[in-house]
Amino acid sequence: MQIKIEKLVFGGWGLGKYKGKVVFVPYVLPEEVVEVALTKEKKNYAFARLIEIISPSPERQSPPCPYFTVCGGCDYQHIPYSLQTEVKQKLFQEEFTRLTGLEITELLKPMFPSPSHLFYRNRVQLKVEREGYKIKIGFYKRDSRELVAVDKCLLAEKLINQTISALQEVLQRHIAIGKEIKGIEIFVSPDEGSGIVILSTLVEVNKRHLQAIAEELMSALPFLKDVLFKHRAFAFPRSLFEKGYTQSALLFKIDDFKIMCYPGVFFQINTNQNKILSKIVTQLAALHKEESVLELYAGIGNLSLPLSAYAKRVVGLESNCLTVKNANYNAQLNKTKAFFKIVNVETALESFLTTDDNFNCLLVDPPRQGCIRALKQSLNFIQPTKIIYVSCHPATLARDINYLLKSGYKLKSLQLIDMFPQTQHIETVALLHR
Ligand SMILES: C[S@@+](CC[C@H](N)C(=O)[O-])C[C@H]1O[C@@H](n2cnc3c(N)ncnc32)[C@H](O)[C@@H]1O
Repeated sequence: MQIKIEKLVFGGWGLGKYKGKVVFVPYVLPEEVVEVALTKEKKNYAFARLIEIISPSPERQSPPCPYFTVCGGCDYQHIPYSLQTEVKQKLFQEEFTRLTGLEITELLKPMFPSPSHLFYRNRVQLKVEREGYKIKIGFYKRDSRELVAVDKCLLAEKLINQTISALQEVLQRHIAIGKEIKGIEIFVSPDEGSGIVILSTLVEVNKRHLQAIAEELMSALPFLKDVLFKHRAFAFPRSLFEKGYTQSALLFKIDDFKIMCYPGVFFQINTNQNKILSKIVTQLAALHKEESVLELYAGIGNLSLPLSAYAKRVVGLESNCLTVKNANYNAQLNKTKAFFKIVNVETALESFLTTDDNFNCLLVDPPRQGCIRALKQSLNFIQPTKIIYVSCHPATLARDINYLLKSGYKLKSLQLIDMFPQTQHIETVALLHR
């Protein structure tokens, strides 16, 4: 069936109508007439697959990646980059206003574009399959478990693409064991010019066989610091060369701060935009030396360590024990007074906070689900004058800000940062004052 796209909406979709029913279609632009096939139908709306563009928008560009629309990782490669940031800014404003009822034109700053539109990801997770005598490495198709074999990913740092080529050759040479490897994580640091590879298997595999693969990879790719392995029984990856986590860690730099990142631990995907994010958080915190900062969902201290240069006390809470070990290592490495503690901030904040605590600034950087429970819990104990909320999901940000507004906070500014060019994802930093 043919429909005309009326506008782009949140989540990477274009919206058109068929017989009065709203239809969501990916990879389109406003005013385009497209041939689509319904994939999921609900009472009032439907989702569709794009089959053909009958009448293209003059804004449409030819996507740089040959796997675009097949591999499912990108949403916007058909849109020129300068228009992508405009689209994201507009969609964020519409969605946030719809969910909060707030008029934010004055509060919303122009999005920080990413200096690199391609080759910016420092980490990718790939799947591996064997088809006959061929090892296939790639990503799953959108909403499916079907593998799309790729020889490169245009979003990934160049060191990652070199690693994919080498892995293809090495795993093919070791096909008997190569087929046992189901997943591969490649993580690189452009700051250090280094990388690591983590090989995942479903079951325990003879370590000597994996070591042979690891040795060949290390000699083909001299920038690799380590090759690690992981299977279901392990909480964290293990080095195939008996290295400790600090020896395998990658070094990132934020101004004068050294941030080491252990294998398997969270780090922001876009290395350059992460430096901008850190700068924005530090500026918004506008700390003076008598103030104290509490960060919830602190990771390895990526945002709180740079803040420690301006504060009396910085404490980060994080639920993952290896991540906390890593964060405290970073605190010592940079000779800061920051410290990090293992706390599940959604269920156990009361194990750490007391009503005598005096934190002026609360910084939160939760996963997509947002942090309404952690905010409610925190405000039972502390009354920070500033709250900085770093969000990767506008809808949960809006929900949580609604709660903070009802609790006596005022929204002062919203800053968008494009951490994820070519995709529909939006990173936001919100500042609230009591
Ligand atoms: C989006 S990351 C942010 C990390 C850090 N702020 C940064 O910039 O690298 C979210 C972090 O929250 C942690 N996390 C998730 N759920 C948590 C919970 N219930 N309690 C504490 N930490 C949690 C994750 O392990 C992850 O490190």
